Amino acid sequence: MMKRILILLLVTCSTIVNAEPSSNIAWTPDMLNFVKQGDMFKGKELAESCAGCHGEQGISQIPEYPSLAGQLATYTYKQLRDYADNKRIHMLMNSVAAGLSEQDSADLAVWFASLPTAKNKAVKGDLSAAEQLVEKGNGKKIVPPCFACHGSDGEGAKQDIPALAGQQTEYFIKTLTEYKTGVRKNDVYSRMRLIAEQLSEEDIRQLAQYYNQLQE
Ligand code: HEC
Ligand code: HEC
Repeated sequence: MMKRILILLLVTCSTIVNAEPSSNIAWTPDMLNFVKQGDMFKGKELAESCAGCHGEQGISQIPEYPSLAGQLATYTYKQLRDYADNKRIHMLMNSVAAGLSEQDSADLAVWFASLPTAKNKAVKGDLSAAEQLVEKGNGKKIVPPCFACHGSDGEGAKQDIPALAGQQTEYFIKTLTEYKTGVRKNDVYSRMRLIAEQLSEEDIRQLAQYYNQLQE
C-alpha cells in the first residue's frame, strides 16, 4: 500500500516538474505592441532567404511547405519564436529560426502579413464532412465548429489563431496530423490537439481541401 502511494506520488511530482509551457510567448500588451511595430522593409529584405521554400511573395509552390502571405503577424511571430525555442520541432525551421533575433522575427511577421493571401482554384469533390465541421462542429465528439475560432472566411483571429484560407493542402494535412498525434504541441491550452484527436483521416483530408480553395 505504502509503496503504491509512493510510486503514485513520484509519478505525479515528475509530471508537474516536466509540465513545460507549450510556448514562451504570452500576449501581453507590450508583446503585442512589439510585434505590431515590426519594420516591414527590414522584413522584406530578410524574407529573401525564405523565398526558395515559401515563395517570392510568401506563396509556397511546394505542397508540403506552408504559405505565409496574409498570415496574422502575431501568429507568424509566435511560430518563429516557438521554432527558435524548440517548442515546435522541425529541423529545417528550428535552424532557420535560431538565426533570427526577436526583432528579425517581428519584422518578417509584419512583412508577410502585408502580402496578399494565396487564391487557389476550387477542385471538385465531396467536402460535406468538412463543411459540417467548419460550420457546426460535431456535438457528439465535442468538436467546436472551426469557424468559431478561425473565422467564417478562414481569416484567423487575434492573437494566435491563424488564417487558414489558401493554405497548402499537404502542409495542412501534415500539421493537423501532427497535432492529432501530439508531435506538434505548441498550441497553448492544447486547443488544436484536443480537436485534431477527434478528426478522422478523411475529415482532415477534406478540411485541407476546403480551406485551400477558400478565399478570404
Ligand atoms: C529550406 C526550406 C525553408 C526555408 C529556407 C524557410 N522555411 Fe519556413 N518552413 C519550411 C517548412 C518545410 C515548414 C513546415 C514545418 C513544419 O511542419 O513545422 C516551414 C514553416 C514555417 C512557418 C510556420 C507556418 C505556419 O503556418 O505555421 C513559418 C512562420 C516559417 N516557416 C517562416 C519562415 C521564414 C520567416 C523563413 C526565412 C527567414 C523561412 N521560414 C525559411 C521550410 C523553410
Ligand atoms: C478554440 C479555438 C479553435 C478552434 C475551434 C479551432 N482551432 Fe485551429 N487553431 C487554433 C489555434 C489557437 C491555433 C494555433 C496554435 C499554435 O500556436 O500552434 C490553431 C491552428 C490551426 C492549424 C495550423 C495552421 C498552420 O498554419 O500551421 C490548423 C490547420 C487548424 N488550426 C485547423 C482547424 C480546423 C480544421 C478546425 C475545425 C475542425 C479548427 N482548427 C478549430 C484555435 C482553434
